Amino acid sequence: MKVIVVSGTPGTGKTRYAKRLAKEKNYLYIDINEFVLKQKIPYVYDRRRKAKAVDIFELKRKLISHLKKLSERGAVIDSHLAHYLPKRYVSLCIIMKCSIPKLKRRLKSRGYSEAKISENVDAELFDVCFNEALEAGHKVKVIFS
Ligand SMILES: Nc1ncnc2c1ncn2[C@@H]1O[C@H](COP(=O)(O)OP(=O)(O)OP(=O)(O)O)[C@@H](O)[C@H]1O
Ligand SMILES: [Mg+2]
Repeated sequence: MKVIVVSGTPGTGKTRYAKRLAKEKNYLYIDINEFVLKQKIPYVYDRRRKAKAVDIFELKRKLISHLKKLSERGAVIDSHLAHYLPKRYVSLCIIMKCSIPKLKRRLKSRGYSEAKISENVDAELFDVCFNEALEAGHKVKVIFS
């Protein structure tokens, strides 16, 4: 089974792109937000961000076991956490990017607080998802939205 993960800073266009890609390739579309709720994946306290965050270890464990059970030709996984899936399960890692003014506009129109916008803008400026994806050893493709 081919697994394409679509990651990137919130607001860079993952969902829009991932849904289109899944449709085009006739692959299963997996939204990690929905998966976390359905699978009741626990939250842990992230000391660095001083906020609740999904337990990545549990997410990976449940996602891998879910992927192994699927009979589809392929899957597109949509999440800013998608690049945490180990390299051996991933055919391609797409990192979405967009300009900083565009990102600010998009996040503002969602009603995000200044603090949340600034945290995401910093993540985009420092290419956090892109660098983590490279460090994980993925084959990375960058798409601008
Ligand atoms: N190529 C594009 N052209 C125009 N608008 C776009 C494009 N890609 C995304 N957008 C718009 O930007 C906003 C954010 O896109 P989207 O919801 O796909 O981001 P996301 O990365 O999935 O965000 P999150 O991580 O919060 O789920 C949406 O309003 C979407 O319509
Ligand atoms: Mg999304």
